[in-house]
Amino acid sequence: MMSDTLASGFLAEGAKVKAFAAEIARFIGNPLVVPVNSCTTALTIAFKLAGVGPDTEVISTPLTCVAGNEPIRMLGGRPVWADVDRFTGMVTAETIEPLITSKTRAIYILHKEGAPAEVESIYALAKAHGLRVVEDAAHAFGAKRRDDRIGAIGDFVCFSFQAIKHITTGDGGALLCSNEEDYQRAKKAKWFGIDRDAREGRDVWREDITDWGFKGNMNDVAGTLGLAQIKHIDWILERFHRNGRRYDTLLQDTPGVQTLRRDPLDYQTYWGYTVLVENRDAVLAALAAAGITSSQIHVRNDHYTMFGADRRNLPNTDWFDARELSIPCGWWVGQDDQDRIIDVLKKAAR
Ligand SMILES: Cc1ncc(COP(=O)(O)O)c(C=O)c1O
Repeated sequence: MMSDTLASGFLAEGAKVKAFAAEIARFIGNPLVVPVNSCTTALTIAFKLAGVGPDTEVISTPLTCVAGNEPIRMLGGRPVWADVDRFTGMVTAETIEPLITSKTRAIYILHKEGAPAEVESIYALAKAHGLRVVEDAAHAFGAKRRDDRIGAIGDFVCFSFQAIKHITTGDGGALLCSNEEDYQRAKKAKWFGIDRDAREGRDVWREDITDWGFKGNMNDVAGTLGLAQIKHIDWILERFHRNGRRYDTLLQDTPGVQTLRRDPLDYQTYWGYTVLVENRDAVLAALAAAGITSSQIHVRNDHYTMFGADRRNLPNTDWFDARELSIPCGWWVGQDDQDRIIDVLKKAAR
C-alpha cells in the first residue's frame, strides 16, 4: 500500500520497483524487464543500445508521439521517414526496405493505439541487414501478436505507464529486452552507467563506470502504484477491448467513416479508437459541440524544425494524417456513451 511505502522512508528504487518488474515479467512472459521513469527513457536507452549516435540513421514514422523520434535527435542521429500503410497507419517492411543505408542502425515501429505491427516481416528485414528493432508499445501493454504478448519477444520493447495509459504509475515505463547482454547494458544505462542491483555490500561509486547512462530509474512510489494497478490489468484490458470490438462492429460499412484494418488473430488493446474521415476538422468540431473529446492523437513529427529539412514525399502518410481521428474507447466509456459517440460521428461524417 502507498501509506506503507511512504511510512517506510524508502522512496528510491527498491523492493516495490523490483516487485512491479516481476509482475510485468510474469504478465508479459519475459523476465528481462528494466523498469524506468518513462517510455521516453526506455526508447532513448533502446536507441543508444542499438548504436544510434552521430552520423547514424533510424528508419521511423512521423505518425507517432515525438517521444519516438526526439531521442534519435538527442543521441545525434537522424530519423528517416518511411511511409505508412493506408489501412493501418503503420510502417511496413516494404516501405522500410528501400531506405536502409550503411548509416542505418535501427528501425522504429509503433504498435499504433495497441494494434500490433506486422513484426515478422520487419524483424526478418532487420535481421537480413544487421539492424535492431525498437518497438514503441506505449499503447500496447497486454496486446498480443498471435499468441505472444507484445514484449515477450522482440529486440527492445518500450512500455509507458504515464498518466493516461492502460496502467499508470503517474509517470513510468519499462524496457523489455531479448537477451541477457542487452538486459545488463540496459540496467546500467538507466542509472548513470551503474547496476543498482549489484550494490549490495559494495561501494559501486568507487568502481569504474565504463559508459554513461541516464538518471532514468523508476522509484518505489511509482512501483507501488504499478503494483496496485497491475492487479486489475485483465479487467482494464477487457473493457478497452470490448469497447473497441463494439466500435469495429457498429462502424462497419458506415458512409464517410473508414475503420482500420485489424488482424483478427491478434489481440488489440484499443488505447484509442481511430477512424478515418474525409472532413476530420468538421467531425472533431461536431463531437466537441456534443461534449465528446476526440483528437488526432499524434501530430505528424516530420514538420517540426528540430528534425531539419529531411521531409520526404509520403503520400500515404499525407492521406492518413489528413483523415485520422480517435474517439474515446477506455474502460470509463459505457455502451450508452458509445452509442451517443457513434450517433454524432455518423451524422457529422456522412
Ligand atoms: C506512442 C507513444 N510513445 C511514447 C510515449 C511516451 O511515453 P512516456 O510519457 O511514458 O514517456 C507516448 C506518450 O504518450 C506515446 O503516445
